[in-house]
Amino acid sequence: MGITTTDTNAGKIKAYTCQFCHGSNGIAANPTYPNINGQNEQYLYQSMKAYQNGERTNTMGKMMKQQLSSLKNQDLADIAAYYSTMD
Ligand code: HEC
Repeated sequence: MGITTTDTNAGKIKAYTCQFCHGSNGIAANPTYPNINGQNEQYLYQSMKAYQNGERTNTMGKMMKQQLSSLKNQDLADIAAYYSTMD
């Protein structure tokens, strides 16, 4: 995938729109949405790629695919690094 370094500060900026559902601290306001703070970095990256690749096809998965539609691999890696460092 060609990602050698990640930037948590860039990830914070790129994750701006995510906080409406996943919270400013990665803890979802809606109990039916997943908390993603402190999750494994590689898991977060892989799960986001799975949405982009259409491998999570439930209704909420399709919604998440749209949320990630404009993000490149480096963006996903930065965002994954950002959430993985949260308490
Ligand atoms: C409109 C609400 C909403 C927004 C905005 C949103 N998400 Fe999500 N997110 C969800 C929901 C709901 C799920 C669970 C979907 C499913 O059933 O797979 C989810 C799932 C995820 C998962 C997978 C978690 C897991 O444990 O597998 C990640 C990672 C994620 N979102 C990251 C993001 C990022 C990064 C952004 C911003 C670019 C974002 N989300 C924006 C609602 C949202």
